[in-house]
Amino acid sequence: MQGNFTYHNPTKLHFGEEAMKHLAGELKNYGPTVMLSYGGGSIKRNGIYDAVMAALKEAGKTVVEDAGVMPNPTYEKVQGGCALVRDHKVDLILAVGGGSTIDYAKAVSASAYCEEDAWEKYWVKQGWPSCQVVPIGSVLTMVGTGSEMNGGSVITNRKAGFKLGKVFGPDLYPKFTILNPRFTMTVPQYQMVAGFFDIMSHLMEQYFAGKADCTTDYLIEGLMRSLVHSSRIAAKNPQDYEARANIMWTATWALNTLLKMGKGGDWEVHQIGHAIGLVTDATHGMTLAAVSLPYYRHVMRDGLHQFKRFALNVWGVRPEGKSDEQVATEGLQCLEAWMKEIGLVMHSKELGVTEANLQRVADAALILPVGYRTLTREEVVEILTESL
Ligand code: NZQ
Ligand code: ZN
Repeated sequence: MQGNFTYHNPTKLHFGEEAMKHLAGELKNYGPTVMLSYGGGSIKRNGIYDAVMAALKEAGKTVVEDAGVMPNPTYEKVQGGCALVRDHKVDLILAVGGGSTIDYAKAVSASAYCEEDAWEKYWVKQGWPSCQVVPIGSVLTMVGTGSEMNGGSVITNRKAGFKLGKVFGPDLYPKFTILNPRFTMTVPQYQMVAGFFDIMSHLMEQYFAGKADCTTDYLIEGLMRSLVHSSRIAAKNPQDYEARANIMWTATWALNTLLKMGKGGDWEVHQIGHAIGLVTDATHGMTLAAVSLPYYRHVMRDGLHQFKRFALNVWGVRPEGKSDEQVATEGLQCLEAWMKEIGLVMHSKELGVTEANLQRVADAALILPVGYRTLTREEVVEILTESL
């Protein structure tokens, strides 16, 4: 295990088909005014909105509606939410949606009463809130990001030219989250499998970095194997409750801060993915799918021991008569075959990356010095070129 750490995750989870029964009771722990934040309207079409409104009514709340949180939420939208919070003296933000809505709620919570420029303070300088923050609760409708049980808040600021993540502390984690796998059944196939790869990417970002052969590696391998198993079932039959439920639980544990304890992480695939998202507004999980193989092939020799371990323990590659490099390469080939099987985007040009905008994408990617290899800007260009 690496370093010293404190593990504290205060999010209370209610899981299962009857999880919504707990919402009214949770709401009663907060003041009278609730801001209901949600996305482009899927919750109105699939009945989740009505179920949430019924719980809000049962709890006797005044509701401030805050619709239209877009995928890859923007800082402009966050500023609009902040004004609503201040104008209505909101006591709780209830985020109903996927990672975008929950990330947005955290951004609004930390920014509404911030007296400085919140973008500069949190996303550029990675500072901590020193103002009042508004508690958040969430009802998850799309699986992948882990935002339901962490402090992550990824915001796009096109004026500044960046899509940046901020990891807030436990004060900004949702106080409670409702996880009903049935609520995810109406997610379109493209978004669903993008979410599956987002989970895999969170696991790989933490696996391919830091100390090798620690407890976390064994946990990650188990989560990866569960994800591969259930995703194969769900990609063919999205209505399979058991598979969708397992994936929902895996996603939460993949990024609720447990795995990074004593281990650290790489997160370079996410930085390149965010840069693609900034320039093309592509779906987060697909941006990761398009660049992962070129990136991992690029750094494989720098972390050969772990790539071999991945091949053996996640994919069951047979090592007899093969060099470490051959085994590791086969592991990445298994990853590629699984990605194609579940229907992921394998090339960044399908997301709108072109030879003309590739340099702009490369320039917008943060380069982190924490993985097996610290990339140069030219290497980012090479990886993106290979991803086309
Ligand atoms: O807006 P609506 O109409 O709700 O439609 C959404 C949206 O179009 C739709 N959807 C969600 N639930 C649905 C549904 N459609 C039908 N039925 C349902 N039950 O799905 C689309 C995508 O939703 P979104 O919330 O954008 O997806 P996701 O959960 O993948 O979130 C992506 C955002 O999270 C950030 C990403 O960068 C991106 O901005 N991330 C947040 C992280 C964190 N907080 O720790 C970590 C991740 O790595 C990631 O960066
Ligand atoms: Zn992600």
